[in-house]
Amino acid sequence: MVRAALLHTVGAPLELTEIDLPEPGPGQVRVKLAAAGVCHSDLSLATGLLRAPVPVVLGHEGAGTVAAVGEGVSSVRPGDPVVLNWAPACGGCHFCGLDEPWLCEHAGAGAERTYAALADGTALYPGLGVAAFAQETVVAERALLPLPAGVPLTSAALLGCAVLTGYGAVHNAARVRAGESVLVYGLGGVGLAVLQAARIAGAGPIIAVDVSPQKEELALLHGATDFLLADEGTARAVRKLTGGYGADQAFECVGRGSTVRAAWSATRRGGRTTVVGIGGKEDLVSFSALEIFYFARTLGACVYGNSDPARDIPVLAEHVRAGRLDLEALITDRITLEEIPAAFERMAAGQGGRSLVVF
Ligand code: APR
Ligand code: ZN
Ligand code: ZN
Repeated sequence: MVRAALLHTVGAPLELTEIDLPEPGPGQVRVKLAAAGVCHSDLSLATGLLRAPVPVVLGHEGAGTVAAVGEGVSSVRPGDPVVLNWAPACGGCHFCGLDEPWLCEHAGAGAERTYAALADGTALYPGLGVAAFAQETVVAERALLPLPAGVPLTSAALLGCAVLTGYGAVHNAARVRAGESVLVYGLGGVGLAVLQAARIAGAGPIIAVDVSPQKEELALLHGATDFLLADEGTARAVRKLTGGYGADQAFECVGRGSTVRAAWSATRRGGRTTVVGIGGKEDLVSFSALEIFYFARTLGACVYGNSDPARDIPVLAEHVRAGRLDLEALITDRITLEEIPAAFERMAAGQGGRSLVVF
């Protein structure tokens, strides 16, 4: 039995419970978690904004050590440090063939199969196939990425979602170049990772926007050159900081129609907005047909940082080793499994950076 934070019903609080975890079957690996980050997508799954089968053990941003391997597993051995990947690609579908593994038709670590049980036998689903809010988990071999040397195992958890997403948004999706002006809406774990990635790209100015004034200090620490409180005057203030034009590149890291629109409106003519946040089905964004032509702007999506994790994790590790990417700075709260509900509350209130469950 291992301890886990369980979502029994959508909308209900997480419950601490013991779960019965089976030994890994063929092609599976049992991982002892070192740490797991609390991502907004976990909150969205808990509140029902995003859908997942229940009862479920959430948590999809984790790192740990291989505890046991099932039959036929060849890429890892017990004792190996690994990062969990919630969107492994199949390698064989139409999109994988196009070299766009983030759009893989079979992406996912197997969220639709039950993987463990409660003491009374109730079967449990693994959140996004990963189930990192537990002392241990069992995942498919392809959901593991070997952790390169020189990256501390606990902070490596953040590589699995926020950092891969934020870094990839800047370097893979938007391809920010040195000297471009960057605007970032929403300064949670993802937006802060975007700021650091923009700094690595040599962008400037790097303008950070949030509704929460408490984010200013964090934003500056992560590479922002300017901080603005989100309001009706934001687009004007952004133009003022960019020679009157608006930002070359904007990143929406909130997950709302209104912030997609606000970020887009604050880009220059011909500028690009990359939508990183995941919003609701009914949450619309509107543009007039004329302004699309007139402003000649681009609006693009970004899925898991348009990353190929096997290629990108070693690149991120190199940035960590060289001191360009500061994972520790992203972590503002080190917590226990019991404290995840409080981390959700901080997140909803716009407080802090990443909360990290440390086991
Ligand atoms: N304008 C600007 N900032 C806003 C607004 C707004 N209208 N509303 C909320 N924010 C800020 C919050 O104050 C917070 O700082 O957006 C930030 C969101 O951060 P987190 O809740 O920590 O979310 P994070 O885990 O970073 O994820 C951001 O990416 O992966 C997706 O599902 C995820 O949509 C979510 C987004
Ligand atoms: Zn996430
Ligand atoms: Zn595929």
